Amino acid sequence: MDIVQNSISAHAALIEVSVTVDRGADTLTVSIKDDGSGMSKEMLANVADPFVTTRTTRRVGLGISLLAAGTEATGGHFHIDSELGAGTRVIAVYGLSSIDRPPIGDFAGTMHTLIVSNPAIDFTVEFGVDGRGETLDTRQVRQVLGENVPLDTPEVSLWLKEGLSELFPASYAEY
Ligand SMILES: Nc1ncnc2c1ncn2[C@@H]1O[C@H](COP(=O)(O)OP(=O)(O)OP(=O)(O)O)[C@@H](O)[C@H]1O
Ligand SMILES: [Mg+2]
Repeated sequence: MDIVQNSISAHAALIEVSVTVDRGADTLTVSIKDDGSGMSKEMLANVADPFVTTRTTRRVGLGISLLAAGTEATGGHFHIDSELGAGTRVIAVYGLSSIDRPPIGDFAGTMHTLIVSNPAIDFTVEFGVDGRGETLDTRQVRQVLGENVPLDTPEVSLWLKEGLSELFPASYAEY
């Protein structure tokens, strides 16, 4: 949620979220890619430092530094690339079976909240386990609905909630 919020703040039009479980490699990988404003090389080099932020309300940015520390605590790793004017990709690899790995939680519900709170942004949502998975792409949803029906219309929101829960069942929280 926090890392997607960075993409929203960077005025992304498309945000691609994927969670991949690989039981053989014992990893859980979260990837978030956006086509937002991107970062300068200088910003990028320092972004895992909690004292680097473009926030104006407080001087410490916690999102990326906490994510990086969280992956390392599970024996995983963290990677970020960004290009000014092109976008940003954040990849967090966790040790799947590490007791320090944060739980997945309510994946469908989290994605639903993000989609309906940001109806002007497109999302692709993917969850894969050992090479098999499901994807939802809001651009396809918009094609079906027609351009004049916003994704935050109550009926559409409810339909999306049900669809997301079917694609990404609550049992995913058990990984
Ligand atoms: N997807 C992104 N696109 C462009 N810039 C980004 C992106 N993600 C992070 N940044 C830049 O990196 C800085 C640090 O991000 P981080 O999430 O760690 O802290 P923050 O967003 O500033 O504060 P917080 O997340 O605690 O509200 C941001 O202020 C922003 O300038
Ligand atoms: Mg942030």
